[in-house]
Amino acid sequence: MSRQVAGFSRALARMVRAINSDIASGEKLNLLVRLAPQALAVRGCSLLLLDSQKKRLIHTAVHGLSERYLRKGFIEPERSLSEAVKGEVVTVPDAASDPRVQFRELAKQEHIVSIMGVPVTLRGSIVGSLRVYSRAYREFTASEQQFLSTVADLVGIVLESDHAARAEEPPYNGKTQDIGTTGIGISLLKPTSFAHPSEEEFAKLLDFYQIEWLYEPRSFPLQWEEGRVTEMFTPDFYLPDLDLYLEMTTMKPALTKEKKQKIRRMRELYPDINVMLLARRDYDRLLAKYGYGPLAGAKTHGVGKVLFSNLRIQRKVRQLAKQISQDYEGRHPVLIGVLRGVFCFMADLMRSLTVPADVDFMSISYYEAEKGGAVRVTKEPDINMEGRHVILVEDIVDTGMTLSFVLAYLRKHNPASLAVCTLLDKNVHRLADVRLDYVGFEVPDEFLVGYGLDYAEEYRNLPFIALLQEAKDPNPEEKKNLG
Ligand code: IMP
Ligand code: MG
Repeated sequence: MSRQVAGFSRALARMVRAINSDIASGEKLNLLVRLAPQALAVRGCSLLLLDSQKKRLIHTAVHGLSERYLRKGFIEPERSLSEAVKGEVVTVPDAASDPRVQFRELAKQEHIVSIMGVPVTLRGSIVGSLRVYSRAYREFTASEQQFLSTVADLVGIVLESDHAARAEEPPYNGKTQDIGTTGIGISLLKPTSFAHPSEEEFAKLLDFYQIEWLYEPRSFPLQWEEGRVTEMFTPDFYLPDLDLYLEMTTMKPALTKEKKQKIRRMRELYPDINVMLLARRDYDRLLAKYGYGPLAGAKTHGVGKVLFSNLRIQRKVRQLAKQISQDYEGRHPVLIGVLRGVFCFMADLMRSLTVPADVDFMSISYYEAEKGGAVRVTKEPDINMEGRHVILVEDIVDTGMTLSFVLAYLRKHNPASLAVCTLLDKNVHRLADVRLDYVGFEVPDEFLVGYGLDYAEEYRNLPFIALLQEAKDPNPEEKKNLG
């Protein structure tokens, strides 16, 4: 037996033992990508998984590649060793000149000469690609290709068991949730540590609403000197659904200023890239909605400025109802509201419609920081929505995370059509990809109360919509208690 074959068999034995142990899935994958290049005597290895839209390949477990190489930008399955995501083994002896390699110049700078890629499959579909990178010129032999394919099969087994373990988590609404086979790797991408606790909290919130995210997946060069990059910017999060980068500045105001400058520069240099700044105040406000963070316990001084008088609201509601009545002429729609904030708006909207309409309500669970987990439907609508024209009615859409979940839920009931009507649209910090068909008023990023909208169950009964007046400075004792 050749030395190489003996090495393969030793590596596979260690891999299988690790897979059969109780270490975390991410650790298993890390081990596979560390042992595989060792056995093949190459520099590095990466497991790239497709995101749920199959538009990007994402480095999920990596060994032996530089940060810079990893953060070069998203790898497009069509442009990078595309045969590997079509199910074939690909060998690239000369990466610097091969058109099948997407980032040839960077590969050269990284001293990558040859690459071999094999498909990774899960339940019969291709979910990604396993690649090894060599510094020396290599034409990978049949047995080397065989070895890497076997490692890719082991990756598939790890993904499968991870998937199975996840499926054992509390089922969604009594039914087993079908999370599909794609996007599965994303959940394994969870970083082992965040730079700041607020980032971890934010990630938990996104997880709760099942919004896909990546942590610091890409660095953008901002400044060069003699061809060398002297300044980079790495936004904290990336949300694939919105193709949006998100930078959180929950630290000192001085740092916020610096970051704002960086973001301004990034926007100049990369005009096609969407980037959003989430400042401390925005973030606190976001958390306060769920009863967390410093603002949650802040003393309020009742209501502030009235944004919309009852008269204005009524006029707007009639306008919306008129528009809906025209659009749904002869169709008998079903209005579905998400409790509880929507009940005032729903009651008024309903009474102004001139087409017959059914009405029903649903409820969903609220985010609780210490519980984590995922959002659930706690009360389902009773009406059968199959084949019906459904209009989801909301009081206010802010990040859109609630709506995105609710729409995904409603779609599973096969309505003939699905539209969204919201009285208020607070769209400065949208974090989910949602389309609004009927919008009453666009509102600023402030906390609003009245006409059904509450702050800790208060103020729902106000006939108008007003800003909630926050106390200037919550007393220090209280602040401490609320952490
Ligand atoms: P989203 O998931 O961030 O879009 O938040 C939507 C939900 O948060 C709404 O259905 C409201 O229940 C609540 N919400 C958002 N903004 C406000 C507000 O300004 N006042 C009261 N409730 C709000
Ligand atoms: Mg609501």
